[in-house]
Amino acid sequence: MAEDLIIPTGDRFERYELLFPQIQNLIQGEPDLIANMANVCGALHEVFHFLWVGFYRRIGEELVLGPFQGPVACTRIPLGKGVCGLAAAEARTVIVPDVESFPGHIACSSRSKSEIVVPLIIGGRVTGVLDVDSQELDYFSEVDKIQLERIASLFGGKPELWS
Ligand code: SME
Repeated sequence: MAEDLIIPTGDRFERYELLFPQIQNLIQGEPDLIANMANVCGALHEVFHFLWVGFYRRIGEELVLGPFQGPVACTRIPLGKGVCGLAAAEARTVIVPDVESFPGHIACSSRSKSEIVVPLIIGGRVTGVLDVDSQELDYFSEVDKIQLERIASLFGGKPELWS
């Protein structure tokens, strides 16, 4: 059973550090992928109040919207399109400091100003992405990259969740 999150204080790094073990606790022992994605979105949103945080799952050659918190979003993104499609196609984290300067950015919300997309990788294959949007320009840093990749790796370590 889930308990209330202890809302971490401190700088962004410290908050991620205190949140990570709580996320581990939330999803350990729960085999359902969608349930775990939903709780990870909820936890990240509750702590950081991101404009949008959510998952897309790779289904064939598309990314299909999964659990998220925030404004309604595009449901399908072809691999290679937009920030999400680029991160998935190239299997690397993409940080976009100003979405208006990113050619091909897919605008789901006019309030989104900057974005980070982290691929979920299982056995070398991209199985989805974790996407976070901010209302502030140039919001995401190396701290977010390292910490969100660590959270994404929790899914990569559980290949059975994808069956
Ligand atoms: N901006 C993303 C689309 C997804 S939404 O931000 C939720 C992109 O360019 O891929």
